[in-house]
Amino acid sequence: MSAAITSCGAAPVILTGDRPTGPLHLGHFVGSLRNRVRYQDTCRQYIMIADAQALTDNMDDTRKVNLNVIEMALDYLAVGIDPKKSTIFIQSQVPELAELAFYYLNLVSVARLERNPTVKEEIRQRGFERDIPAGFLTYPASQAADITAFKASLVPVGEDQIPMIEQSNEIVRRFNRITGRDILVEAKALVPEMGRLPGIDGKAKMSKSLRNMIHLHASPDEIRAAVKQIYTDPLHLRIEDPGHLEGNVAFIYLDAFDPDVAGLAELKAQYVRGGLADSIVKARLEACLQEALAPIRTRRQQFEKARGDVLQLLQEGTAQARETAAQTIAEVKAALGLRYF
Ligand code: TRP
Repeated sequence: MSAAITSCGAAPVILTGDRPTGPLHLGHFVGSLRNRVRYQDTCRQYIMIADAQALTDNMDDTRKVNLNVIEMALDYLAVGIDPKKSTIFIQSQVPELAELAFYYLNLVSVARLERNPTVKEEIRQRGFERDIPAGFLTYPASQAADITAFKASLVPVGEDQIPMIEQSNEIVRRFNRITGRDILVEAKALVPEMGRLPGIDGKAKMSKSLRNMIHLHASPDEIRAAVKQIYTDPLHLRIEDPGHLEGNVAFIYLDAFDPDVAGLAELKAQYVRGGLADSIVKARLEACLQEALAPIRTRRQQFEKARGDVLQLLQEGTAQARETAAQTIAEVKAALGLRYF
């Protein structure tokens, strides 16, 4: 498996990952998964299943995290992430990451962690108030460890994660300055051009609690039912009325999934002029989604039948990731003088 990656010697290193807390959905597909399939040909890509990070706010439901690790791997493989090109690994099985995070905690203040806008917002969403798990508050240091262990220069993330990359880079700069060596590498956030995909109800984000998502492994019937419910233009009451495209989820999804760009532009013009029924827009969207998701579903079913092989792939990827992380932690400890024998 590692042999296939040698051609990427001078390629940029990418580190990316997801918390395994639930099935992946169309938002993940558009925002990250399909980009990963592209990056894996030109970059040295590490994809981490962040089970340890997921525990920072799921300690009361570890089973949910455990079960979703393999589910996430199945989704990765189903969309075409190729373990011969990308290294897929499980965070908790690379203890070097925890070790690295332990040292990084000394390079960041509690006040700075509390000011991190992503952490701040997540604390608010989760309703922790004063009962913030220390592991949760400090997860930016752990995320810095994830990124720097692989000397990643690019980290594909949504806009909301940019403060994480900034904080990671602060840690890198402090470490390199204090030790006087350029061991750690700063990373750039790689934010997708296409914004976040809204939920089918028009809310800004797909989320489990809002029940407004389409899962990557949705059945044809589930896709049909979801498209029927999709939020369009509430002012478009009669077919002849002019319709609006802003905030119209059917068109936002078409932008993401319809390969016929010219045809879609025509459809939009007609909608805006008036005289085009929502049902026609939705039928086109349904066809696009069915076509995009069918091969993913088929591939997933194949991998589901070979769970043993999937575990084996994860084990190999994890061993490979561990080797790289071990090299970095050795350099870091040497730079800190933590070498006695
Ligand atoms: N925080 C990411 C998420 O919520 C997962 C993650 C963990 C990650 N470590 C990372 C992403 C490092 C990018 C880089 O899904």
